[in-house]
Amino acid sequence: MKETERIVEYGVPIDAQTMIEPPDAAELELEPGHPGLGDETYIARRKELFALCRRHRLERLGPPLIEYTAEETRIWREVSPKLDELHRKHACSIYLKGKDDLAITQAEIPQLRTISERLERETNMHLVPAEGALPYRTFYEYIAQRGFPVTQFIRHGSHPEFTPEPDMIHDCLGHVPPLMNQDYAELLTLIGKAAATTPHGDQVLALKRFSWFSIEFGLIEEAGETKVFGAGILSSTGEIPRSLFSAQATRRPFATEVVIATDYDPSQMQKDFFIAPSLPFLRRELEALVRRFNIPVL
Ligand SMILES: [Fe+2]
Repeated sequence: MKETERIVEYGVPIDAQTMIEPPDAAELELEPGHPGLGDETYIARRKELFALCRRHRLERLGPPLIEYTAEETRIWREVSPKLDELHRKHACSIYLKGKDDLAITQAEIPQLRTISERLERETNMHLVPAEGALPYRTFYEYIAQRGFPVTQFIRHGSHPEFTPEPDMIHDCLGHVPPLMNQDYAELLTLIGKAAATTPHGDQVLALKRFSWFSIEFGLIEEAGETKVFGAGILSSTGEIPRSLFSAQATRRPFATEVVIATDYDPSQMQKDFFIAPSLPFLRRELEALVRRFNIPVL
């Protein structure tokens, strides 16, 4: 596919070049329908954290120490025990071990700076403060350098179990625990290197779908059972049972050709899930894809 051609993402044709040179939003934008719209205190707090985290990201200062408000702590204390109960039953072992080893508590919102130092010692990964969702290529450029971008704000309190954008509950209780696993960290950094290196927008999109249906919304086989692997599922009390049991969702074996050709809608509850047989399987599939795309990162 030529770069002037268009590719389809989220059901809409886009210029393939936007995958290679993504836009950089310098100001906070809450999407239409966001539960925080109209709440001036919430918006002021989000703007404050946006500016702080953006500065720390661009100046490479590491996660800032944050004094969380009583309302933010209340939301954390409401959501994290409900998620933990579901994790104990349905999360994959890599996730559970990382969560226990990091000792992420249900009582206090953790400081990402402390977690980042621990990750650095364990798997040579670190956390990069992010002011909000970063474009895929930007996100994976950090990961290629072994930095995982994480938000430091909390969702709006009117809907503690729902967030239309990644927040700290999604990042910290979804993405961060498996970063303690060396094989997981290597899988992630290889995706990062490939996505940051290819000059082809359609290949970035294929890698984005590979990550979406594994790192974000993947299921995995473990001792004959299907367990939850993806951070988007693990950070949602609705998505965990839905991904495993709902008749409205499909669950198919992870086949890379099918996965990279499958579009999705990130603003809705997911309907397509893929089950990977193991983490080494995902690694082999990713290496084969990177070779086929001729991306020189192996
Ligand atoms: Fe995510």
